[in-house]
Amino acid sequence: KIEKSLRPVYLSEYIGQERLKGNLQISIDAAKRRGESLDHILFYGPPGLGKTTLAGIIAHEMGVKMKATSGPAIEKPGEIAAILNGLSEGDVLFIDEIHRLNRQVEEVLYSAMEDFYIDVVIGKDSGSRSVRINLPKFTLVGATTRAGMLTAPLRDRFGISYKLDYYTPGELKEIIIRSSELLDVDINEDAASDLSKRSRGTPRIANRLLKRVRDYAQIRFDGVITKDVVSSTLDLMEIDSLGLDKGDKSILETIIYKFAGGPVGIDTLAASLGEDAGTIEDVYEPFLLQQGFINRTPRGRVVTEAAYKHLGVSMGE
Ligand code: ADE
Repeated sequence: KIEKSLRPVYLSEYIGQERLKGNLQISIDAAKRRGESLDHILFYGPPGLGKTTLAGIIAHEMGVKMKATSGPAIEKPGEIAAILNGLSEGDVLFIDEIHRLNRQVEEVLYSAMEDFYIDVVIGKDSGSRSVRINLPKFTLVGATTRAGMLTAPLRDRFGISYKLDYYTPGELKEIIIRSSELLDVDINEDAASDLSKRSRGTPRIANRLLKRVRDYAQIRFDGVITKDVVSSTLDLMEIDSLGLDKGDKSILETIIYKFAGGPVGIDTLAASLGEDAGTIEDVYEPFLLQQGFINRTPRGRVVTEAAYKHLGVSMGE
């Protein structure tokens, strides 16, 4: 039995990101009415907020096919040339982690995005020549965790760019209830509320936790997800009342105990944690900043009073 996808397929099913959705709906309707392909679109923001889902929705709403790949998966100019050459008029090409494309591959995209052609070099050395290949009018949908990591020429070739924000507990609760229906599991209203507050503002995390909670409800209880089931499961998973996990907490505790609350530079902090600096910046830090648990200063990261309070540590300890 294949597990059902929890991803929404149409924009009307998509919960949250209201402003983005409104703008995207207008772009889609306008392109459709003119019978044109959609402008290239860049989505940026922390992982798990729906960038890939939105690319799929765009293809569905436009009635075209989507080809999905990622920055690190495309190693040579010939590989991106082959992908572009395989597209049909209006198709969506989704490139996840687009900031990780290498220079030569990225350069192929410039003419492809701007004027829908690529120059392909055929043959070797003195016998080589360049051949121009025209492309269908496709839509590139790029996704990245940090827009600042894109080169200016690439960033400038996106007609539209949208930032994804963390979801509110109310929005996550709606997503959790929708997902519970798709998974065919009963969840109490207050259980969905509790789960929504412990999901780091992130639908991917909410859906992952929902599946774990469902397991627990089915094995240890009568199958219904109650408040108690949520609290037992998440306590077992070491996820606290605000959704901080062990990774979040060890960042805060390291700054507090090893660096006297900060400021500490990102590379020093990463080395001390044995974690990749990019992962801290893209995955952990945005949520801790949003929650007001850390601040960025010119001399590095500092932990806030709110973080000390939440962790139950007195300042100066
Ligand atoms: N599943 C994951 N993300 C979702 C969203 N934003 N809306 C509805 N269902 C979702």
